[in-house]
Amino acid sequence: MSETERRIHRPSRDPFLFRPIRFRSVEARNRIMMSPMCQYSADDGVANDWHFGHIAARAAGGIGILCVEATHVSPIGRITPHCLGLWNDAQRDALARIAAHIARLGATPAIQLAHAGRKASVSTPWTGTKPIPASDGGWEIIGPSAVPQSPEAQTPRAMDKGDIAEVVDQFRTAARRSLEAGFEVLEIHAAHGYLLHSFLSPLSNFREDEYGGSFENRMRFLHETIDAVRKEWPQELPLFVRISATDWREGGLDLDAAIEVARELKARGDVDLIDCSTGGVDHAQKIAPYPGYQVPFAEGIRRAVDIPTGAVGLISTPEQAEEILASGRADLVLLGRVLLFNPHWPLHAANRLHADHVAWPMQYERSNIF
Ligand SMILES: Cc1cc2nc3c(=O)[nH]c(=O)nc-3n(C[C@H](O)[C@H](O)[C@H](O)COP(=O)(O)O)c2cc1C
Repeated sequence: MSETERRIHRPSRDPFLFRPIRFRSVEARNRIMMSPMCQYSADDGVANDWHFGHIAARAAGGIGILCVEATHVSPIGRITPHCLGLWNDAQRDALARIAAHIARLGATPAIQLAHAGRKASVSTPWTGTKPIPASDGGWEIIGPSAVPQSPEAQTPRAMDKGDIAEVVDQFRTAARRSLEAGFEVLEIHAAHGYLLHSFLSPLSNFREDEYGGSFENRMRFLHETIDAVRKEWPQELPLFVRISATDWREGGLDLDAAIEVARELKARGDVDLIDCSTGGVDHAQKIAPYPGYQVPFAEGIRRAVDIPTGAVGLISTPEQAEEILASGRADLVLLGRVLLFNPHWPLHAANRLHADHVAWPMQYERSNIF
């Protein structure tokens, strides 16, 4: 088929998915973000060849913003002993090589900073996510209150104000190292039952001081963390916050509460996007996932608060992703597992949605045979 015939049968289009998007001084080449996904494969928190290959493949696959997995701000903030960390310069230098390669491949390098709180010190998923005893290298876990996340989990030590100040400062220094490593988007992990979420949720925070009780008090740790991060993370670079927009349980956070969280974050003026995930704080949560099941949270927050949102969770076809953006339900789509299945999902989606301007890496051009 000649080029003219091809265009008659299949006119090039300009899908939302492949329109660049700007956050502060950063322009991403499209609106698809790789959702952070732990690989549980680091030694002493340092990224290695597994991380490099895994990330490089997705960057070459055409992703717009590539978010490196939950990268923990302290040793005891790690979920497993094999999670990434960013509390020393060796960890920073390993990530710098990865961030540079992401940028070289045309994607925007992003990093998620995290502290696992009371969900820390467990084994890798493929060995059962079991609490690790101290005799096996496990560590004391911390949280808002001395209440475990599930009957099988370790009981955390309730943090005192000194612990809170220490973690806030750990986020600050990790933000500085993220900048030094060359990341252009920083996401704070305040979802999935990890430390910051566990302060936000009334299902895990039973404190009676100024960090517990009222909504304002439960927000305090997150605000202090953002203040500290913003001391190091320049105003010209975007800051995203991932929240759990519902705890999927009576008495926990729900969409109305998430809208209040987003309203406060918008009012600060220094948060650029709410990444809308759900769940993780309470073992008795009731979730019945279906394709796009979390999109209504991104949509609800975007419409109520007028702040950019990211939609995530069981988004797997180009048409589904395009609909989310085209109908104004979110500003970015985040993809997780589908990118594990197919690192070149964005390039295939471009083809399917007739975004002919999207180029494959030169080295792969001969694969574009459709
Ligand atoms: C292997 C794996 C690791 C994950 N690690 C993280 C993580 O580091 N941080 C995070 O916020 N979410 C994490 N998640 C959740 C994903 O970012 C995403 O929100 C979830 O998988 C739903 O999107 P999906 O249906 O497109 O996979 C992880 C998910 C998977 C499958």
